[in-house]
Parts: sequence; C-alpha cells; structure tokens
Amino acid sequence: MSANSFNQLLLTLCSPSWDAGPWLAKIPRKKWPDTLPLLWKLAQKVEKGALLKSLTRSQKNQLLQQLRSLTPRKKGKRSDSIKLETLFLIETASLRIAEQLGKKSSWIEKRKWCLRWFNSPSFLKLTEGVLFSDECIDRVLGLFERKVQHRLKNSTLPQTYQEEALYLDLDPEDLYTPYRVICRWGKSLKLKPGTKVVDLGSGVGRIPLTLGLLYPKVQFTGIEIMRERHEMAEKTRCGLKLRNVSFVCRNAAKRGLPIADYYYFFNPFVGDTLRQVFRQLKQFSSHRSFKVAVAQIELPWKFIQRLNWLKPVQEFSADKAWEGIGITVFSTSAA
Ligand SMILES: C[S@@+](CC[C@H](N)C(=O)[O-])C[C@H]1O[C@@H](n2cnc3c(N)ncnc32)[C@H](O)[C@@H]1O
Repeated sequence: MSANSFNQLLLTLCSPSWDAGPWLAKIPRKKWPDTLPLLWKLAQKVEKGALLKSLTRSQKNQLLQQLRSLTPRKKGKRSDSIKLETLFLIETASLRIAEQLGKKSSWIEKRKWCLRWFNSPSFLKLTEGVLFSDECIDRVLGLFERKVQHRLKNSTLPQTYQEEALYLDLDPEDLYTPYRVICRWGKSLKLKPGTKVVDLGSGVGRIPLTLGLLYPKVQFTGIEIMRERHEMAEKTRCGLKLRNVSFVCRNAAKRGLPIADYYYFFNPFVGDTLRQVFRQLKQFSSHRSFKVAVAQIELPWKFIQRLNWLKPVQEFSADKAWEGIGITVFSTSAA
C-alpha cells in the first residue's frame, strides 16, 4: 500500500467531504496494512463521508488507540518512518474522533497543536497535494465556513450584506488564503514588535488567528461585515486567548478604518466598497506610510495597480510555493 493511499484513508476521517473510495478500491487486499485493520475493513463498505459515522463507540475508541500508537507522544520519539503529511492527518483524525467521543480537546491543546504545525519548516514544504489539510485546520480551530454558508443560504440576507461580495457559493479553499501562504507571507513581513496588520474582509479569521499565534508581539485586526463569520472568528480568538488579535464586525467601506502598517486584501471587495476603502487609505497616506499586500487575483489587484499613490515594492509570484496565488506588496509613495 502506498503512503498516498493511507493518507486518503486518513483523510476520510478528517474531512467528511473527502472520498477515499476510488483509492481504496485499487489496493489489493493482501496489501492492506496490519496497523489499522478495523479501519481498512470498514472503509471498503461505507459511503462517501460516512466512515466515521458508521463506527460504533467502542470501534471509535479502538481506532483512536490504533492511531495514537502510530505516533508515540513523547518528544523525540516520533517514528521517522511516518511522513509529515501522514503525521498531520493522523493527528487531525485523532482529534476529530476524540471530539466525537466527547473527549473535547482543550484550547491549550489546540493552541499547541497549531503552533507546532505553523512553526514547522516542513509544514511550509507541504503543497498542492495536501491542500485539503486547510479544512482539517479549520475544523480544529472551529472555523466552519460551510455552516455559515448553509445558514445564510436558507435565510433572507440582511440589507447591509446585499451590495457586498460575500461569496456564499465558494468552498472554503477558494474563499480563504491557504494556511501555508499565510505563514509564508507572515515570515516575509519580518514583523517588528508593535507593528499593526489589518486583514480587510477577514471572513472567519484565518489570517489574524494564524499570525496572531505566531507573532504575539504584533497587533492583528480582522474587519468583516458578516456577523456570522465575525462571531466564529471571535469565539476562536477568545478560546486561544489571543490578546494581540481583535475582530471588528463592520462594513469596511464606512469611515473609521484602523490605522495600520500593513493592510491585506484577498479579493474582498467590489465596486463602491473597493473605491471607498481606498479613498480612506489614500487619506491615511498623506500623513503616514504603510504597505498594502494584495493577492494576485483580478480584483482588487488590477484596481490597485492603477493607483498612482501606491508603488509595487515586492512580488511573490504565483508559483507552487504560493499555491498559485502570489502576492504583490504596494507601498505608499512616502514609505
Ligand atoms: C475572499 S474573503 C477573504 C477572507 C480572508 N481575508 C482570507 O484571505 O482568508 C472576503 C471576505 O470579505 C467580506 N466582506 C465583503 N464585503 C465587505 C465589507 N464591505 N466590509 C467588510 N467585509 C466585507 C466577505 O464577507 C468575506 O468574508
């Protein structure tokens, strides 16, 4: 059995939307691993996403033990034969099963877990094939974009939301900056203590939460119009006890944006909102310097390229390392 097939199987445990069936079907029975016989047996039978649901309580306990035995807890004792990607999935699957068994992991545990991954140089090396792991991290942090979208699709949108780009039909992986890109960008900023970073249109808060954990002496603010996303971000911020992070629920187009050293845009606004946000930033630029980092997606990148008071100063091209996204950093002329 290849490592990839094993990962696919683990993934069905981590993410209900993932279907390992096609991979499993290709694996000859004699090649099944002896490590997780229970899991393999069941995985052949169940429907997409139903693997974990189909297990009884005692089977879940058994599985949890089996998974944990693959990754000895003590520091330095981890088996080198397990690849980082697999390790990541084993940990996430274990967390998810434990939660289903009512053994809720504490925020302290979650915090440690995330910090270990975000700080690991090998985490940054994981690309493309493991894009799915973002959904696993969201799950650990309690950021359930799908739940928000589901709730809103079934209700009438409040008037305040109607003019905005809310992306209610996008998967979290298209709507949010991937965690590895966030960590990479954070590293590239070489942030000094006291620096202020604002994520405009912060959604469920991936950026302020991730960078807030990594850089406790830097101030991060997320501005989000949608109350449902804002509340999810705020709940996780409180759980993680991040004093250097704040979330504000408001329309970014309205006057009163916070002053910052960096503003980040991941395609959050259209039309009037985009113009009004930049009108405010232009006013700030007359008395202080700052940078604006923009994901290289048509809007607002094209719009910003045309503003003569902002100059491009740094470029991370949309290659594999940046997961096809890439970021351009603009600076106010005075900076
Ligand atoms: C593409 S998401 C980006 C999320 C986050 N910045 C990231 O990169 O992971 C854009 C977010 O902007 C929010 N948004 C749209 N219009 C807004 C407005 N006028 N004020 C504040 N947030 C807004 C949307 O609800 C959505 O959550």
